[in-house]
Amino acid sequence: MEKFHGHEIFVQLLRLLLLLLLSLQCLSSDYTPPSKYFINCGSSSTISDTTRTFVGDVSSDSFTLSPKQEAVEDSSPSPATSQLYRTARLFRSPSSYEFEIDPIGIYLVRLHFFPFSSSTDLFTALFDVSVSGLPLLLHNFTVQNTSNLPLIKEFLLTINISKFIVKFKPSQGSSFAFVNAIEVFNAPDSFIPDSALLVTPAGSNNSSYKGISSRVLQKVHRINVGGSDIEPNSDTLWRKWVPDDPYLFNKSAARNRSVSTETSYQQILSEYKDSTRYIAPPLVYMSAKEMNKNDSDPLQFFNISWGFDVSKNARHLLRVHFCDFISLSMSDNPWLNLYIYSFFSEKIDNIPLGAPFFLDFVVVSDDSGFLNVSIGPQILSPVNNSFLNGLEIMEIMEELRWVSMENESKKKNTPLLVGLVVGGLALFCIVIVVLLMRSKCRKEKPAEASHWLPVTVDGGLSSHSRVYEATIHGSPVPHLNLGLKIPFAEIQSATKNFSSKLMVGKGGFGKVYQGTLRNGMKVAVKRSQPGHGQGLPEFQTEIFVLSKIRHRHLVSLIGYCDERNEMILVYEFMQNGTLRNHLYDSDLPCLSWKQRLEICIGAARGLHYLHTGSEGGIIHRDVKSTNILLDENFVAKVADFGLSRAGLLHQTHVSTAVKGTIGYLDPEYFRTQKLTEKSDVYSFGVVLLEVLCARPAINPLLPREQVNLAEWVMVRQKEGLLEHVIDPLLVGKVNLNSLRKFGETAEKCLQEDGADRPTMGDVVWDLEYAFQLQQTAVQREPLDDSTNDASSTFPLPNVQRYPSYSLSIDVTHVPTRRNDGSETTESEVFSQLRIDDGR
Ligand SMILES: *[C@@H]1O[C@H](CO)[C@@H](O)[C@H](O)[C@H]1NC(C)=O
Ligand SMILES: *[C@@H]1O[C@H](CO)[C@@H](O)[C@H](O)[C@H]1NC(C)=O
Ligand SMILES: *[C@@H]1O[C@H](CO)[C@@H](O)[C@H](O)[C@H]1NC(C)=O
Ligand SMILES: *[C@@H]1O[C@H](CO)[C@@H](O)[C@H](O)[C@H]1NC(C)=O
Ligand SMILES: *[C@@H]1O[C@H](CO)[C@@H](O)[C@H](O)[C@H]1NC(C)=O
Ligand SMILES: *[C@@H]1O[C@H](CO)[C@@H](O)[C@H](O)[C@H]1NC(C)=O
Ligand SMILES: *[C@@H]1O[C@H](CO)[C@@H](O)[C@H](O)[C@H]1NC(C)=O
Ligand SMILES: *[C@@H]1O[C@H](CO)[C@@H](O)[C@H](O)[C@H]1NC(C)=O
Ligand SMILES: *[C@@H]1O[C@H](CO)[C@@H](O)[C@H](O)[C@H]1NC(C)=O
Ligand SMILES: *[C@@H]1O[C@H](CO)[C@@H](O)[C@H](O)[C@H]1NC(C)=O
Ligand SMILES: *[C@@H]1O[C@H](CO)[C@@H](O)[C@H](O)[C@H]1NC(C)=O
Ligand SMILES: *[C@@H]1O[C@H](CO)[C@@H](O)[C@H](O)[C@H]1NC(C)=O
Repeated sequence: MEKFHGHEIFVQLLRLLLLLLLSLQCLSSDYTPPSKYFINCGSSSTISDTTRTFVGDVSSDSFTLSPKQEAVEDSSPSPATSQLYRTARLFRSPSSYEFEIDPIGIYLVRLHFFPFSSSTDLFTALFDVSVSGLPLLLHNFTVQNTSNLPLIKEFLLTINISKFIVKFKPSQGSSFAFVNAIEVFNAPDSFIPDSALLVTPAGSNNSSYKGISSRVLQKVHRINVGGSDIEPNSDTLWRKWVPDDPYLFNKSAARNRSVSTETSYQQILSEYKDSTRYIAPPLVYMSAKEMNKNDSDPLQFFNISWGFDVSKNARHLLRVHFCDFISLSMSDNPWLNLYIYSFFSEKIDNIPLGAPFFLDFVVVSDDSGFLNVSIGPQILSPVNNSFLNGLEIMEIMEELRWVSMENESKKKNTPLLVGLVVGGLALFCIVIVVLLMRSKCRKEKPAEASHWLPVTVDGGLSSHSRVYEATIHGSPVPHLNLGLKIPFAEIQSATKNFSSKLMVGKGGFGKVYQGTLRNGMKVAVKRSQPGHGQGLPEFQTEIFVLSKIRHRHLVSLIGYCDERNEMILVYEFMQNGTLRNHLYDSDLPCLSWKQRLEICIGAARGLHYLHTGSEGGIIHRDVKSTNILLDENFVAKVADFGLSRAGLLHQTHVSTAVKGTIGYLDPEYFRTQKLTEKSDVYSFGVVLLEVLCARPAINPLLPREQVNLAEWVMVRQKEGLLEHVIDPLLVGKVNLNSLRKFGETAEKCLQEDGADRPTMGDVVWDLEYAFQLQQTAVQREPLDDSTNDASSTFPLPNVQRYPSYSLSIDVTHVPTRRNDGSETTESEVFSQLRIDDGR
């Protein structure tokens, strides 16, 4: 027996050993942390610790410093100061270190600055640091006001040439530069991805940001969530990780968790990226923050949020690290939501137990100076918990920091970074880009100018970076965002000189054309009637509002043109036209209930953002189904901001003229002329009924009591006959609970008293709930939905009928029932029916 046991153990051990060898082989495959370059500047001595050796820069055969510059030494070093920080190299004229690079690939570059006391006051240094190729890593850099010393600047970049130069250049004649230590070493392959999902403060449209590896990344934060400091010597790539506590938004929402068993790196074959010990060391995955909840109360449900200080309006690579060492089995491990700012969430479920993994995003920061990240359980999570192990933020350095280094780029062996090819002309263009982007980024008042000539910029720049050269002209829209200005000639070319073949719509404002800009982007061009006296305020409002906001569910303004008394707005092209088009009076295929819900949720999100987003307090004032457009994927976007009003939420605004569209108009606003965001909620309620019933808000051809949709449906609801009014095409295809929730939501929106109506945020929530009810129903009981009499059991709450109001309607503007298909309804795009005076 004993022998047998011994044998078994031996076999098991062998197996384990084999596994271990295999896993080691596949994880550390061909990467071993390199031994160079680690440089001890201003010294001839070599400093070693257990993991690496810094060599003095006085003499070395593998790198060169030219021209040689003076060295300084700490005159009275504290015993605690590392040897590395007791000497520095001082540069009173431009000087470079040159490194032999082998292999080419992704490199980590670290610069150490420790201003000790010496004959020269190092605190007064002011200088630039650049590397071969073009990026300026540090500009007008000083250590003056830094509190945590030594200061270590870390960059990640792809080096593609055999000679890599790091150049120090004093900013002014009398100034100087210094550095205590330099690291330049090769990182593992695919240490950073080339593309990642692009997230903006307004959310994401699933597009990815490409070309990360051709950019320079600068480390901003590296956080060991739930744990303590990890010193460079304990990290596989000599990084420093710090605890997350100072960044926690609400300290009592989270608590530390840790394990003592070492993380086992493994291939997990999931949708997430497997981590390796070089991506992050075990210590990162051995600690986490989790929800600080009362363990005897499983219903607690809240987020843990962090806010990290970052550059405003800049792109960042955000990497989040997870390892679930908390759960005991896959059946009780949490399903997470990861939120970036308020409008982006990523579902993280199917989390493998005990296996470390990570996710990357490219996040555009807003202008608050913070990048906010939250985690929380999903609504249907088997357990209400959430956790996070680590987080890194690296800023993607932009072109505007790139400068030409005249004498360094000798034509023949011009050093290149991957993906960056700059010819003489492009260089000139970039200089212009730099100037313009700079003025845009700093929100300086742009020069008074219009009439821009296009300059084509090769590569890397998005359509938003299109640049136009200026000549002087008077402009009727002097204070608007000039970055969005498009020359009339470009618009003429995009629309084939306003060819009637490209006309897709016609409305009160003017005509709408489909067009293609020279960069290939499809756009909708809205041109006001030449000589049409009205509309300038609307034109300006629209540019003003749309140039300030970007949201997945708001139609983006690409640009505008105000040359030659034209008022032209250029929008992203919405392939599928208006929501109304897909509901009635057209031949288009019927939208499913799920599609309708998704569209309503999208539009509600857009409005919610208008009301509460970063530029919050904007009231749309003309919410209707023709102002909700659908892109090629049927993603809803709210359009037409011509009537919107900004900044009114906290003061009761009494407007001089009631504006809006008959049938959608909030009766309270009509009565009192007091405008609040709840007027949009009312109009949105009418849109919900339109979606439910597939008929116009006003249809004068119907019997009198049916003319006004909102009035009629609410009456039917009171009578318990709502099933008689829903779109016949939906009957039998809608889950009853979902329908009930939807009906309740519309009803709440249509409350007589604005104060009783929900906010758009509540509406989003309710609609999402209705969506979930439909989803779960479809999954669980596919047959139930095909019963035809289902809608007759639809329960109907008792509602007060609000007093009806009547308006005198200019009959020529009233939409009439049409049977001739999409062409006529297309022409409703952007059409407006307005009551210019309420009385
Ligand atoms: C850099 O600093 C110098 C001297 O303080 C100043 O003249 C120059 O404008 C600065 N440049 C920038 C871009 O801040
Ligand atoms: C450093 O701080 C001082 C005082 O707070 C300020 O006047 C100075 O401009 C700061 N210098 C830099 C480079 O930020
Ligand atoms: C997605 O958003 C990006 C940046 O905001 C934009 O460039 C791109 O055109 C958008 N794509 C779609 C399909 O909307
Ligand atoms: C974005 O991607 C997710 C997952 O692939 C998908 O469910 C969603 O519909 C996509 N949204 C858009 C607008 O493409
Ligand atoms: C978590 O651990 C870190 C490092 O030990 C400590 O600084 C921090 O106070 C702890 N936070 C909480 C909420 O206990
Ligand atoms: C912080 O979180 C705790 C626990 O969730 C909660 O009770 C408390 O209200 C929160 N405080 C703030 C200011 O949000
Ligand atoms: C935790 O929840 C239980 C049950 O809800 C309650 O009795 C107890 O007081 C709570 N404990 C704390 C510390 O709040
Ligand atoms: C999580 O909390 C939510 C909200 O309190 C509750 O509805 C849900 O049942 C909870 N889930 C579990 C598994 O306890
Ligand atoms: C983002 O985080 C910062 C810092 O914690 C906080 O002041 C700010 O309110 C947060 N913003 C949001 C929208 O949560
Ligand atoms: C968590 O944060 C997100 C984003 O800010 C928010 O949408 C969500 O409602 C929050 N969840 C809870 C339970 O507070
Ligand atoms: C550029 O190089 C030339 C000769 O190689 C030299 O005369 C000139 O001074 C340099 N210019 C600068 C700005 O360094
Ligand atoms: C740099 O990399 C690109 C693509 O990776 C390659 O095409 C190019 O030849 C490389 N340049 C040099 C100088 O090695």
